[in-house]
Amino acid sequence: VTHPKFVNELPFPEVLQPITEGGNYYKVYIKPVTQDLGLVDPFGNPLNETMVWGYGHNENSISYPGPTIEAYKNHTIQVEWVNDLPKEHLFAIDKSIHWAATDYRMANGLEEGAMVEFNGIPTVTHLHGGHTDADSDGHPESWYTPGSESTGSNYFGEVYEYDNSQEAATLWYHDHVIGITRLNVYAGLAGFYLLRDDHEESLNLPKGKFEVPLVIQDRVFDTNGQLVYPTETFTVSDEPDESYHSEITDGVIYNSILPEMFGDFILVNGKAWPKLDVQPRKYRLRLLNGSDSRFYDLFLPGTNPNQNVTFYQIGSDGGLLEAPLMKDRILIGPGERIDVIIDFSAPELWGQSLILKNRARSPFPFGETVDPRTSGQVMAFNVIIPLAEDDTSIIPISLRNDSPTVSGNSSETRQLVLFEEEDEYGRLLPSLGTAEKGALGFLDDITENPEYGATETWEIFNTTPDAHPIHLHLVHFQVVNTQKFNIKKSYFGKEDSDDDNDFPNINSNGESNYSVQLLGQPKPPAAENAGRKDTFIVYPGEVARVKAFFDKEGEYVWHCHILSHEDHDMMRPFYVGDLPE
Ligand code: C2O
Ligand code: CU
Repeated sequence: VTHPKFVNELPFPEVLQPITEGGNYYKVYIKPVTQDLGLVDPFGNPLNETMVWGYGHNENSISYPGPTIEAYKNHTIQVEWVNDLPKEHLFAIDKSIHWAATDYRMANGLEEGAMVEFNGIPTVTHLHGGHTDADSDGHPESWYTPGSESTGSNYFGEVYEYDNSQEAATLWYHDHVIGITRLNVYAGLAGFYLLRDDHEESLNLPKGKFEVPLVIQDRVFDTNGQLVYPTETFTVSDEPDESYHSEITDGVIYNSILPEMFGDFILVNGKAWPKLDVQPRKYRLRLLNGSDSRFYDLFLPGTNPNQNVTFYQIGSDGGLLEAPLMKDRILIGPGERIDVIIDFSAPELWGQSLILKNRARSPFPFGETVDPRTSGQVMAFNVIIPLAEDDTSIIPISLRNDSPTVSGNSSETRQLVLFEEEDEYGRLLPSLGTAEKGALGFLDDITENPEYGATETWEIFNTTPDAHPIHLHLVHFQVVNTQKFNIKKSYFGKEDSDDDNDFPNINSNGESNYSVQLLGQPKPPAAENAGRKDTFIVYPGEVARVKAFFDKEGEYVWHCHILSHEDHDMMRPFYVGDLPE
């Protein structure tokens, strides 16, 4: 029996209020709550509410997704993120990877196997897409347990400041603890952060209830309607230390780190396959892919079998495009945001139930096809409410007066590489590295050290068979171009290489010293990727060249936004300014 769809009302997350009216100080509690995700049993009876983790302005108003933070350009706000999480996680922590407890051991000079007991699960909140000072960025090692009883090696406190020194954009906040980000986000720790400014307000885009944030996430449930994070089990051959790998029972590791994690339930704003009843008019949808690994290739079939309803894309991760794009599909990778307007006013749509569908393979782009009964469907728009008043909003011909590109010449071009290898247990180990050094782990020394105020170009070579949505903290970058390349097989087999991690050095003219061959001409980005981006899909066998301005000092991270990859070990620090001794 397939789960009934399009019966649950789409929830709108509430807007977070400051603790004093008109103030700029917010307090957010992070804790478990049971919530109705709109699940039913095979007979159509509602299931128990689901235990999730969420955010809320007081202990009794916790929700998943968290409340939406609305901020204004150049108006600084402070948020106190209060950790009220329990001692036990909802899901199995994979203690065989680097995570908060290993960070704690290393920072406190404890031995590998030493017991670490936390008074609650750690959290730290990152504002994704935020132009944020390093001490408020939510670095993965800035985590803390309740009351900051235990803290990460890069802890800065619980009150974060967002100066909002950037243009209007769809940002989002989510948990970012080292090694358990995927589990904390899966439990529910994510919410919207809408940044507004005068320019955007002047455009007369659809607003109020006609501006709809939509976070799309896939999940797995048990028959009681409780969340399941799939685990794999495997046998330990070389007996690692028991206390270190405490999930080991009888030589079996219950492994929650997976190559990718896909769910067969699609939730939007925390409801399974919801519906939104709409008026025949324009709506602005702010789409966010908050899934672990699933990409969505979205389309909205209308009444004409040969033509989907048009998405007018007006923005991407970091703000508005130069002009709206008319599209009949929207591809969105984990972490990305796409801002679209849909006009439901065409008479042939009146009375229709329009189903937003997905056709992205998983893993993207070469994996399995979607199941049209489950992950192939997202939500419904029912064009059944009479028009309440004239729609005076517009889709402007031009969206901005300036160019969203990064001006200035790059002082440095870096060659960075995405790898997939195996870890010591034979599991997939995706990683980042450099052309010179090969694959590196999160704990290796910093190799990306832009000067304060530098503009740099990063050439990101994807040597893996999957697409990876690569995200940089702090900056919005310009995608300069992409280009295909080849690595000759002979390279990896060559005699003088003791491991597969090396990547042939490519000199700055794009000539290969050995066997990386750039193919064809560099391609400028598609129009939807020509705006300000913070997360960009790098395809297998392609190099993406992105250019950014590094204008805040301190340590940040860049990583793949497939959360299962980010946790293991596809994340690297970068440091802007003089490295501390
Ligand atoms: Cu959305 Cu470093 O994350
Ligand atoms: Cu990845």
